[in-house]
Amino acid sequence: MDRSSFDRILAELHQHRTAEPVDVRAAFRADPGRFARFSASDGDMLLDWSKCAVDDATMDLLGKLAGAAGVEARRDAMFDGAHINITEDRAVLHTALRNPGAEGPVVDGQDVGADVAAVLDAMSAFADAVRSGKAGGATGKAITDIVNIGIGGSDLGPVMVTLALAPYHDGPRAHYVSNIDGAHIHDTLQGLDPETTLVIVASKTFTTVETMTNAETARRWIETALGKEAVGHHFAAVSTALDRVAAFGIAPERVFGFWDWVGGRYSVWGAIGLPVMIAVGPQRFRELLAGAHAMDEHFRTVPLERNLPALLGLVGWWHRVVCACPARAVIPYDQRLSRLPAYLQQLDMESNGKGTALDGKPVATPTGPLVWGEPGTNGQHAFFQLLHQGTDIIPVEFLVAANGHEPELKHQHDLLLANCLAQSEALMKGRTLEEARVQMLAKGMEAAKVDEIAPHRVFSGNRPSITILYRLLDPATLGRLIALYEHRVFVEGVLYNINSFDQWGVELGKELATQLLPVVEGKENAAGRDASTAGLVEHILQLKER
Ligand code: F6P
Repeated sequence: MDRSSFDRILAELHQHRTAEPVDVRAAFRADPGRFARFSASDGDMLLDWSKCAVDDATMDLLGKLAGAAGVEARRDAMFDGAHINITEDRAVLHTALRNPGAEGPVVDGQDVGADVAAVLDAMSAFADAVRSGKAGGATGKAITDIVNIGIGGSDLGPVMVTLALAPYHDGPRAHYVSNIDGAHIHDTLQGLDPETTLVIVASKTFTTVETMTNAETARRWIETALGKEAVGHHFAAVSTALDRVAAFGIAPERVFGFWDWVGGRYSVWGAIGLPVMIAVGPQRFRELLAGAHAMDEHFRTVPLERNLPALLGLVGWWHRVVCACPARAVIPYDQRLSRLPAYLQQLDMESNGKGTALDGKPVATPTGPLVWGEPGTNGQHAFFQLLHQGTDIIPVEFLVAANGHEPELKHQHDLLLANCLAQSEALMKGRTLEEARVQMLAKGMEAAKVDEIAPHRVFSGNRPSITILYRLLDPATLGRLIALYEHRVFVEGVLYNINSFDQWGVELGKELATQLLPVVEGKENAAGRDASTAGLVEHILQLKER
């Protein structure tokens, strides 16, 4: 990071935004080439940011900013296996998971490509055996249901991908248990038959309390129904901590590993993707990887001014830092991406929700925004009111496929597309007081009533949105989309000058939860804790049924 150049360009961006604010509506009227210049594509995937309040000067300055921050050099360092995760002294190589068998990089003496290919082959053999019924349960029945027990990165990726690839499911049903709340595992297991259920315990560290507690519960469920000796047939594990898995009692041939250079939130591409692979088959899973690899190559080789992750990152950073937008909404007009916002919350907020810069000093700019969303059209009937007329400007990211998987429901897909386009158009165009008045008078409303009500029907407009359009949500496209977002988070992290690959902020709460367990169990008292926590504990103990 060339700090002085960066700060100078940042000041120029602020100055440019104040001196020459862009009204997107006027910009479209004045410039027939606007859409072509402020959109870019990679194959059949299109990124359109022309409805954001940027102009040529903005994009030019953002390009220079990326240069001053050293985006390309840091990108190359990541792909080369440098230890860019400095606080944990680790390489960051999730990209290698989608390039199995590739030559290099050799990291800390490890032939990464060969190891990735070996695990993928082992997963494929196991997935095929489960899918074909060869690896059945203890009583010989074929597996019909998989329960993946994991949380955070060991849950959100596989859950999201499983839902997204529903049209490709031809294997056992995949269920997911993450929450320590016993209700989650209880309700999941309730509908299942232990004889035909495979439990996958997914935990990078194999210490996470939620996962280990739920795994014990699942083990008791199997043992109670089928006996202790059945456990081996009904469990598999995914972890980097092979010794701890062995201690839990899962046979080594049912354990699939990964490495410390894969962050939890970047891990769906490897063994953590096992439930997805069992559900859709190894071939479809490899298509997912191939799509992500294609986006890696795009990110690595295409100049920044046409590079989709770089552009998404630069515009995202512009909204967060220069426009001071506190949040961004991700709205997939794609029901099967219903968990994408939750997945992106971890990817983005755990990566870029940081206050300390790489040099250990407080960061110089705001960092990652609040990321949230729900699928459209549902969101339109819930929170879009705030997006259109609320007092904060929240940039919106729309994702939509030109085609659905249901040819017989094409009309419904066209309605979905029309709604998606309508929302981005409405955010941009808005409606003036005069337009509201004319419309109401045309409907025959009395002039006095029109004066009273019209101000409520005004939309300020000029509200930014980005649209990501693709042909069809097939496995390869999904892989490209996820990798697009991963690299966008990376680019923004470089611009914030932070380490996007650690997550120290989740530790304190975990430590305190361990201390508080004996207190809520009534085995220790709350003396010495703050009055609020002590008061809450007292009430819990009074309300608890013994
Ligand atoms: O809560 C933070 C976190 O460490 C995430 O980063 C991770 O994805 C999740 O917990 C689960 O961790 P593990 O896979 O080690 O159980």
